[in-house]
Amino acid sequence: MKRLFLNFFKVLFFLIFIKTAHSNADEIYNLGKKVFLEAGNCAACHMLADAESNAMVGPNLNEIRPDIQRIIMTVRNGIGVMPAMEGVLTDQEIEAVAHYVSIAAEQ
Ligand code: HEC
Repeated sequence: MKRLFLNFFKVLFFLIFIKTAHSNADEIYNLGKKVFLEAGNCAACHMLADAESNAMVGPNLNEIRPDIQRIIMTVRNGIGVMPAMEGVLTDQEIEAVAHYVSIAAEQ
């Protein structure tokens, strides 16, 4: 009986853990999408199906499928005509938009 009780708590904690881990991830993803569409203005230059943007100034993100580190570097420092966003976006916004694009570009 005691064992059953312990197992019950293990399962309960596991579920709570999954739930919080999951909702944190969703929050970052949603913030990233917002940055993509608003403060970061990425949608003005890049095609990304999930964001319903069709701009073709920069590369189609669904085609190049950049990983998260590459996006963070590019957004911080800029590349070619793409402006550097360090100081324009906060570190948290840069990380969120990179998280979002790295996932959304795969879809
Ligand atoms: C003014 C237009 C413009 C805006 C705004 C813009 N980009 Fe870009 N982006 C470009 C162009 C142009 C390139 C290609 C530059 C080159 O290769 O010379 C590029 C390249 C990239 C690359 C590929 C870098 C590589 O390693 O080849 C990524 C990833 C990227 N942009 C993400 C973003 C994100 C995320 C945002 C929003 C925070 C954003 N861009 C905003 C124009 C823009």
